[in-house]
Amino acid sequence: MTTPVWRLILRGIKSIFVTPPVGTGGTVSAQYCYSVYLRHLVIAGQNKLSTDPRTVIELGPGDSVGIGLMALLTGAEQYYALDAVRHASSANNLKIFDELVKLLKAQMPIPSGDEFAEILPELSDYSFPSKILNENRITQALAVDRLSRIRMALASDLTAGPIRYLAPMGRMHEIPGNSVDLIISQAVMEHVDQLEETYSECFRCLKLGGFMSHQIDLRCHDTAPEWNGHWKYTDFTWRLMRGGRPWFINRHPCSIHIFLTEQAGFKINTEVKQTIGLGISHGQLAKRFCKLSESDLNTAGVFVLASKSE
Ligand SMILES: C[S@@+](CC[C@H](N)C(=O)[O-])C[C@H]1O[C@@H](n2cnc3c(N)ncnc32)[C@H](O)[C@@H]1O
Repeated sequence: MTTPVWRLILRGIKSIFVTPPVGTGGTVSAQYCYSVYLRHLVIAGQNKLSTDPRTVIELGPGDSVGIGLMALLTGAEQYYALDAVRHASSANNLKIFDELVKLLKAQMPIPSGDEFAEILPELSDYSFPSKILNENRITQALAVDRLSRIRMALASDLTAGPIRYLAPMGRMHEIPGNSVDLIISQAVMEHVDQLEETYSECFRCLKLGGFMSHQIDLRCHDTAPEWNGHWKYTDFTWRLMRGGRPWFINRHPCSIHIFLTEQAGFKINTEVKQTIGLGISHGQLAKRFCKLSESDLNTAGVFVLASKSE
């Protein structure tokens, strides 16, 4: 059953006075992190982009830095995790780390279907990507001294060294320009308030040839009975629903993400839309969204791979 609007507004108002609890629910599972990172890596390979990033930024890691740990456990040397809220704990991170090492050593297939059916982007083949992560690379990346170095770094306060956790309110300006190979996010860009600035910062941080890989969930996130019902609320109602929460959803449709990505200077390598026909119709849209295209109105998610090229 969906929550009525008045209750959503009350929750928003409450959040002005009582700080909402941390936690997002996603990256608490090692299999989830393993599945997400390998999907992004496989699609990068399909698009002839580098699948061996050395320096990686993740936006919005959530409850653990497990997605970034996958980057480190497959050869990366430096990982920056930026979040609006400090959701991840040392205990969670260490638990996920140990489980990820086991999954990688066993070269487990990419989790899909059943409890992982909601994870996007989809692949046509979920077997372990052994062409990308070949025996030689896995052996080097999982060498005992390397693993203990990463584990030790993980147990520190994450302010220096190979893992830097910039949260709360992590800002990209702390990261040197032209220094990053890959920027990854899963279900985050729909939450970022400063979207234009963030895409520009992504461009600044990446090296030439570097790229960003984002899976963006454009649905209403339980703010309406219809998956696209968030576009029917006025700005005033929306502000009340958000209340004092440090992050919410920015309500930008697919075309805005694509526009801002290109405006920042990126070349789009691939854009895979997930569409749903049923939802609210044009006539129900709030004034601010009344010019939404038919395509935006039906796009519930999008995977965007975009590179910084000459
Ligand atoms: C739905 S959760 C996704 C978490 C994780 N990526 C996953 O796949 O489960 C959204 C995350 O985006 C973060 N977030 C929201 N606004 C952000 C911003 N401006 N910059 C970085 N992270 C942000 C939230 O704190 C949260 O961790």
